[in-house]
Amino acid sequence: MMLESVAHIVKVQLPTYPKRLLVSKSIAGFARLTVSEWLRLQPFLGILALVSYLAVHPFLPKKKQQKDSLINLKIQKENPKVVNEINIENLCLTKAAYCRCWRSKLFPACDGSHNKHNELMGDNVDPLILKKKEVKEWN
Ligand code: FES
Repeated sequence: MMLESVAHIVKVQLPTYPKRLLVSKSIAGFARLTVSEWLRLQPFLGILALVSYLAVHPFLPKKKQQKDSLINLKIQKENPKVVNEINIENLCLTKAAYCRCWRSKLFPACDGSHNKHNELMGDNVDPLILKKKEVKEWN
């Protein structure tokens, strides 16, 4: 029974489908189609949409994998948030560089790893530099 139905569709329905297809010569003609005529057009429109999608799909931009969108790749991944607190009064140097690229092996201090990252990725990140203002004492 099932195979008879398939055979009937393949041998009788499909060959006559294009002849029964209502193709209007104008856009106004499509507006006058009845519901049953639109339903008869559905397989044709579905195949047309599928073929269009398959033709365009290779040229669509690919979604980047989530790994590419991560900023922090390895620093304190066991913590839900990475927070570093630096007391400015305790800075012993007059100038300190802090990493903003998340690639430093001395994080939160900058170790220059941003240079390699910028070269590889075409990025432009640099450290945050804190400068201590020199106060001259009058004696
Ligand atoms: Fe990250 Fe320098 S190493 S900003």
